[in-house]
Amino acid sequence: MKVGILTAGGDCPGLNAVIRAAARTLQQEGHEAVGLKSGYRGLAKRDYIPLDRTKIRGILHLGGTIIGTSSYNPYREEDGIQLVKQAVEEDGFDAIIAIGGEHTMMMTRRLYLEEGIPTIGVPKTIDNDVVGTDFTFGFDTAVQIASDALDRLHTTAASHDRLIVLEVMGRNSGWIALFSAIAGGADGVVLPEFDTPVEEIAEKLKARHEAGANFSIIVAAEGANLAFASGDSRQIRANESTDDYGYPRLGGIGAALASEIEALTGYESRVTVLGHLQRGGTPTATDRILATRYGVQAAECAINGDFGHMAALIGNDIVSVPLSGITDVKTVDMQYVEVARKFFG
Ligand code: F6P
Repeated sequence: MKVGILTAGGDCPGLNAVIRAAARTLQQEGHEAVGLKSGYRGLAKRDYIPLDRTKIRGILHLGGTIIGTSSYNPYREEDGIQLVKQAVEEDGFDAIIAIGGEHTMMMTRRLYLEEGIPTIGVPKTIDNDVVGTDFTFGFDTAVQIASDALDRLHTTAASHDRLIVLEVMGRNSGWIALFSAIAGGADGVVLPEFDTPVEEIAEKLKARHEAGANFSIIVAAEGANLAFASGDSRQIRANESTDDYGYPRLGGIGAALASEIEALTGYESRVTVLGHLQRGGTPTATDRILATRYGVQAAECAINGDFGHMAALIGNDIVSVPLSGITDVKTVDMQYVEVARKFFG
């Protein structure tokens, strides 16, 4: 078999671990792995990198992706579908493994269902918002980075009697914010999933400070609304531009929250925005293992002709689920919200 492997959408730690595991599994069974450069663009433009043993050696621990990534969508490009189909047929690809987030999974699903291209998906994103799987790789690393930041912010906040708001990524869902708030011992969290009025946060912080605390830490997901008890609520945008998927560019909820809470409580406030630090660098051991398991599973799906499926983690098991079910984003599990709330106020 000749199997194309691509990485699409925003990068995240663990992409190279998937590439290595999928290519190794294929090679061990006598098959060929080919890297498609910069997502589906590499397939449409026939821009390939052979993924032989030397190319995949020493990449397990590396962040980023050795084959590049982009948000190229053949459905949005003139002749995009035709070019992709031609490449698959004429260059003899027997399967395409697409490693990406929810948009990539939706494209990959359409390419299988509508065009008959033998695709397999692998879910990635630091945001952990792909439906059909319990966890995506990259998420654990991002949570670790945010938790480390919270540990550091605690000592400086405590030294200066300050409120510090940490803004983390999470456009549609607040998984990173919620998990890092629990792991980093935050005193409040705001999520895209539901509004938390600033007055409510301020009251809880006042109660906490009246009970003896001299500082507080709040975690805000970038996609959370700035909400008020009046019912007024709005998302904070970094600027007027949109990204390649048409989403507004987010950023600024941390600063907006800090200033509103400072006005309500009188506590001196600061804000830290973690940004792309959450996406770069070396994956945690947990992410390397998850990514490796996904890579092996995707290669086995290719070998077994199990197309139109996505590798997924359900409980402790790696399985494959139909891509036809991947139609939405996965929001936070409220069980974790209940746990986090025990420590607020
Ligand atoms: O999808 C992951 C993510 O990290 C989002 O949380 C964030 O909004 C987005 O990527 C930012 O991506 P970029 O700045 O690369 O367009």
